[in-house]
Amino acid sequence: MKDLLRLKSSLTEEIEAILNEQIRREAHSSSLYLSMASWCDRNGYDNSANYFYKQSDEERQHMLKIFKYVLDLGGSAVSPTITDIKFEFNSFREIFEEALEQEVIITQSINNIVDRCHKAKDFMTVEFMNWFLNEQKEEEYVARRALELFDVIGEEGTGRWEIDKQVPKIKYDND
Ligand SMILES: [Fe+2]
Ligand SMILES: [Fe+2]
Repeated sequence: MKDLLRLKSSLTEEIEAILNEQIRREAHSSSLYLSMASWCDRNGYDNSANYFYKQSDEERQHMLKIFKYVLDLGGSAVSPTITDIKFEFNSFREIFEEALEQEVIITQSINNIVDRCHKAKDFMTVEFMNWFLNEQKEEEYVARRALELFDVIGEEGTGRWEIDKQVPKIKYDND
């Protein structure tokens, strides 16, 4: 029965597996950003907390987008288990360093998926993943700009208060 269903799917087992791995990575990002929101909230950075709540929501939407794609193509989407999300961070700045690091890891992972789809001649999934490549361009820009604020504004005096105010205002301008 499984083999018969497989005939009805354009997804190979290999591509289905790496898409499920990406579902897990997006869910991990969502949980990590939620934890960052908690830290910011506990430490008085309310605007940044809201920024990370929003980021967390977006990552969940990314997860669902892939989840539904896998199912639409007749594959099996697996609801991921996420454990070991860190609760403590050493500083306000460290949160933004880790957020940028996380986005860069996700971009590499998506590049890897596109590469493997090309090799498998799965151009439908290549087309689908293009949306994620564009999204990563924006997400990396915003994460990098947030971190830049620590140098441009400076952390001394009311610096961190000002940075917290500016973080949600960062916009990616495509022009
Ligand atoms: Fe994402
Ligand atoms: Fe992201």
